[in-house]
Amino acid sequence: LIHGIFFQFLPPPPVSNFSSYLDTLSAQTHQIANIFSPFHHCSSQPFFNHLQMATLISDTAPWKDLKAHVAEIDKTHLRDLMTDTDRCKSMMLEFDGIFLDYSRQRTTVDTVSKLFTLAEAACLKEKINSMFNGEHINSTENRSVLHVALRASKDTVINSDGKNVVPDVWQVLDKIREFSDKVRNGSWVGATGKALTNVIAIGIGGSFLGPLFVHTALQTDPEASKSAGGRQLRFLANVDPVDVARNISGFDPETTLVVVVSKTFTTAETMLNARTLREWISSALGPQAVSKHMVAVSTNLKLVEKFGIDPNNAFAFWDWVGGRYSVCSAVGVLPLSLQYGFSVIEKFLKGARSIDQHFQSTPFENNIPVLLGLLSIWNVSFLGYPARAILPYTQALEKLAPHIQQVSMESNGKGVSIDGVRLPFEAGEIDFGEPGTNGQHSFYQLIHQGRVIPCDFIGIVKSQQPVYLRDEVTPEQLQSENVASHLIPHKTFSGNRPSLSLLLPSLDAYRTGQLLAIYEHRIAVEGFIWGINSFDQWGVELGKSLASHVRKQLHASRKKGESVEGFNFSTTKLLTRYLEASAD
Ligand code: F6P
Repeated sequence: LIHGIFFQFLPPPPVSNFSSYLDTLSAQTHQIANIFSPFHHCSSQPFFNHLQMATLISDTAPWKDLKAHVAEIDKTHLRDLMTDTDRCKSMMLEFDGIFLDYSRQRTTVDTVSKLFTLAEAACLKEKINSMFNGEHINSTENRSVLHVALRASKDTVINSDGKNVVPDVWQVLDKIREFSDKVRNGSWVGATGKALTNVIAIGIGGSFLGPLFVHTALQTDPEASKSAGGRQLRFLANVDPVDVARNISGFDPETTLVVVVSKTFTTAETMLNARTLREWISSALGPQAVSKHMVAVSTNLKLVEKFGIDPNNAFAFWDWVGGRYSVCSAVGVLPLSLQYGFSVIEKFLKGARSIDQHFQSTPFENNIPVLLGLLSIWNVSFLGYPARAILPYTQALEKLAPHIQQVSMESNGKGVSIDGVRLPFEAGEIDFGEPGTNGQHSFYQLIHQGRVIPCDFIGIVKSQQPVYLRDEVTPEQLQSENVASHLIPHKTFSGNRPSLSLLLPSLDAYRTGQLLAIYEHRIAVEGFIWGINSFDQWGVELGKSLASHVRKQLHASRKKGESVEGFNFSTTKLLTRYLEASAD
């Protein structure tokens, strides 16, 4: 160590096994970094250090302590943990009408306290603050992560790159309010003078799943559905022409407004669907009708104009809004306001804001997203349960799981830490779900007696009470009930399967906003603890460029008769087979 610079002498790289040499180098560098950057100095370090964690969380003492703690938990059974009333009471909390009970997790009070120590080691508090302060926590894309600014009140100041972004947010929200009011009250009409009562929102991934989730939640809410009147909102996402056919079925171009939603305005599926619907409108009403029947939501206003949509009819958002976190931007707010009216959607934004404030300012012991995130870490990284089931007991939340699948798996499905080191543990979670009681008649068998899958039960007081996983049924119990001996193994429930319950008083726009923000922040907590960048998606980008290569090849083969090249044997065969079959 000379003048604070650590010099290390390594043997020259063996040419035969260069990648394992790099792994060794990387591991050693991190051991060294660990000596100089222990996590307990988070608060005294500049933000970059606690985000670009110089070491892996799995190298820290709190992580190792939790690893050792698993053996203690393995000696317990939920049956016994549940008899400890004090423990159960300490695992129930309430904020602004939302009640969380996590007493059915495989945790003791000691486990939870160890998880808080882990959170401290991971500089969780500092990372949350960095997010709210607009720092460039999405370091691989060099961007802030500010979906919380989308639902901030007008007087809030949130800076990104030295500029308060809240006035820009409200300028767009005010423009949406004005436009949606005009369409809804009939002062903005179609090319033939008819009111536009139907909306088709074209978009995919984050430009689709969040708005669809909220729409499905609000459709049966009395206030929202009254405000919708007879209006209809549909979502066109898939490039499969079947989706186009279903979306335009029964709709008349004369009374239809198309909203093209794309952050980049380059997504192949969305652009193809946008061209198809532009053709649908202009062939029925003439090309000049496009300006009255098509509007756009994008960060790329130049491409919107190039496509032929009047830039005055474009609604902006910003690169600090990740696609999967964009439902509170014009991506969701425009189509939903056209359907339900801006005042209903403003309540949705307020609900999300209530959780943002709670997440930012509440101590970890009472912080719902923080607790949920830490419990996920416990289940995935320590107990080894890689999946999570999202089980809302209301059909109105049928699109919650598909939305959370993207938010969670695109955010945390990563293999390297934020500073590019391969993780020695698996990050990310497999999310799936279905409303109860439908799920009960589908995959609950596996959850009861097959694999252990931690469950989120979401109950709505006004409609249905939450249910719990079947308690343990022992062979002894079954014997005492005279169950035939050959059936006893089949009827036995070992129990000890973790779940938690979130209880909402009702499901309206405000509560939907709260639920959205709870899951968004829970996923951020997981990523902050694992030390990954939850806000980029280089894997998907790679997929997009591979898909574009395939498209170009198929085009060249079809149009110019070129042979398929540049792929491995298997892909070449498959593409050739497809080309032959589709030529018939
Ligand atoms: O495929 C993933 C993704 O990049 C998402 O992150 C994004 O929400 C979606 O594609 C759609 O992208 P865009 O809004 O740019 O059309």
